[in-house]
Amino acid sequence: MTEGADRVTSTAPSAAMAPVPYRVRSRVVESPDAATLCLEPLDAVLPAPQPGEFMMLYAFGVGEAAISISGDPTVTDGSITHTIRAVGAVSRALHGAQPGTLIGVRGPFGTTWGLDEAAERDLVMVAGGVGLCPLRPAILGALANRTRYGRLMLVVGARSKADFLFAAQLEKWADDPHIELHLTVDVPVQDWRGEVGLVTEPLRRLALRPDRTTAFLCGPEPMLRFGAAALLAKGVAARDIRVSLERNMQCGVGWCGHCQLGPLLVCRDGPVVGYDVAGPLLRVKEL
Ligand SMILES: Cc1cc2nc3c(=O)[nH]c(=O)nc-3n(C[C@H](O)[C@H](O)[C@H](O)COP(=O)(O)OP(=O)(O)OC[C@H]3O[C@@H](n4cnc5c(N)ncnc54)[C@H](O)[C@@H]3O)c2cc1C
Ligand code: FES
Repeated sequence: MTEGADRVTSTAPSAAMAPVPYRVRSRVVESPDAATLCLEPLDAVLPAPQPGEFMMLYAFGVGEAAISISGDPTVTDGSITHTIRAVGAVSRALHGAQPGTLIGVRGPFGTTWGLDEAAERDLVMVAGGVGLCPLRPAILGALANRTRYGRLMLVVGARSKADFLFAAQLEKWADDPHIELHLTVDVPVQDWRGEVGLVTEPLRRLALRPDRTTAFLCGPEPMLRFGAAALLAKGVAARDIRVSLERNMQCGVGWCGHCQLGPLLVCRDGPVVGYDVAGPLLRVKEL
């Protein structure tokens, strides 16, 4: 069973609204529109984020956006890693930030994937597009404590081969006996020998032990719904399917109401929520 894993940070509410300056230490281009930034503190160090949590990143003079952590949770040097896809003004500014650029950081905020609660169980992780970013710390955390878990299965979908994030790491995982990797693309290209289609296809073929399986899903909402439906059809309980939700965020601390989804404030009650709670809400059109 994987119940909510809210973590109370040591940050007081008013302090949580004040961005702390971090500097871009390194920038790695991941795909045509995504880049990974490693940020290091200038002075004050924020509490280390846990897999699933997000930070509010402020591009000075442009604005703020919620961005999940995507780095290795076993790295404890005070740095924070984020992978950002450029879709609008703020994410474009963050995505383009070069080493040395100052970024304002608030957080960490939100709920975690609940890796501790999933100990002893099989893990199925399903990512669509940039949905792999919030899942990466959970994958690396599980691999670092591999004996704590049963099978570790990862299903990743991308628009095309060029859109897979963390390509070098995916190649390594493909040869790693500790993880079962399934990749699929929407658009095949000549040198793609893998699967073509939605993530639900490899997911449907997985032989699972449903009462011993915990699933983590992150990606576009239709992917969450169809992915969860495939897992439910295999007998996995809705509460053991944890999905990461996205809503427009402003304060990040449950004050402004911008991220409301039915009875939930996604910044406070999410982003990671059990499908027993998220499922009925995601089925309501334009909630
Ligand atoms: C909890 C949480 C975690 C997140 N983690 C990440 C992350 O790790 N990496 C990351 O790149 N983004 C992440 N996001 C999404 C990110 O916050 C938004 O992409 C960003 O706020 C967009 O702001 P903007 O000003 O650049 O674009 P806006 O001006 O707000 O939007 C520009 C255009 O892009 C569209 N758009 C906005 N967001 C998205 C989106 N997510 N996908 C596709 N189209 C979009 C809008 O509809 C609009 O048409 C996360 C969001 C949440 C709530
Ligand atoms: S972003 Fe303000 S309440 Fe969630």
